[in-house]
Amino acid sequence: MRITLPELVRRMPKAELHMHIEGSLEPELIFALAERNGVALGWDSVETLRQAYAFEDLQSFLDIYYAGASVLLVEQDFYDMTWAYLLRARAGNVRHAELFFDPQTHTARGVPFADIVGGIGRALDDAGREWGMSGALIMCFLRHLDEDDAFATLEQAMPHLSRIIGVGLDSSERGHPPEKFARVFARCRELGLRLVAHAGEEGPPAYIWSALDTLRVERIDHGVRCVEDEALVRYLAAHRIPLTVCPLSNVKLRVFADMASHNLRQLLDADLAVTLNSDDPAYFGGYVEDNFAAAFEALPLDAGHAYQLACNSFDAAFLPPQAKAQYRAEVAAFFAAHT
Ligand code: ADE
Ligand code: ZN
Repeated sequence: MRITLPELVRRMPKAELHMHIEGSLEPELIFALAERNGVALGWDSVETLRQAYAFEDLQSFLDIYYAGASVLLVEQDFYDMTWAYLLRARAGNVRHAELFFDPQTHTARGVPFADIVGGIGRALDDAGREWGMSGALIMCFLRHLDEDDAFATLEQAMPHLSRIIGVGLDSSERGHPPEKFARVFARCRELGLRLVAHAGEEGPPAYIWSALDTLRVERIDHGVRCVEDEALVRYLAAHRIPLTVCPLSNVKLRVFADMASHNLRQLLDADLAVTLNSDDPAYFGGYVEDNFAAAFEALPLDAGHAYQLACNSFDAAFLPPQAKAQYRAEVAAFFAAHT
């Protein structure tokens, strides 16, 4: 190999499919936007905020993540946040990015839906024009709220559906099974939206089955707990259902004790369509290439696994076949030149 394995995985072309744009807000930007907008924060400095990033579980993270997102008020804020992420993504050779956003976190504070989608979308357009990166937006429903709130959010999204490729389900998993959102997902499906859901991060394999059977999702976000159910693993592999796995997130939120204990290699060995992603990079200690480097340093993975993960990321993307083929050719050319 002409470059080291960590360098190879950092530099190879990739798609990022599981990234909450609000989770890309670095503490410095949170403070800058708080000052610009006159929003009071519960921390007195960037350092004390960063020190608060010692999480015990998903909920302890979400409490801080929602507080951080409270600095976003106007279209330009959403643009600045997204542009900062896209610059970092470009540095990790992300060629295609599908961004989650949580409209309810903002509309509940009176932010117009149009400003949220407008700011994020304008940054994606600029990245496409300036360096040919493709992107898409996936609107997530907050599962700790009720289905009526999700329906009201879908109503607000209606004038903007040309900008939104799909819907997802995020926030506190335990106690909020996918079937709680069966009707709103059915409606989204009728509208032609693509469907994904977080399941099997902290929740049991039954939540993954429910996301597949009652929501009819095409990808599972996280899904690492699928290994507790052999029939589920066989089903996911047979149907090539992608799992968008986020290793640094899983370690930070204590789904695994450390990176060496992560089940990524087990998932790959079971022939699952795994992709690697950053989830909330500003909170979990790294962007997507850092996730790759950390996993490949701690686990028995080689250049063949790297190639598989790069291909999986484009195969699992909501892209037309022609674009997928073009990106796959970029991956092949990169590996031919560097391995
Ligand atoms: N929202 C942002 N990050 C999340 C995660 N890892 N799980 C559930 N909801 C989220
Ligand atoms: Zn997530």
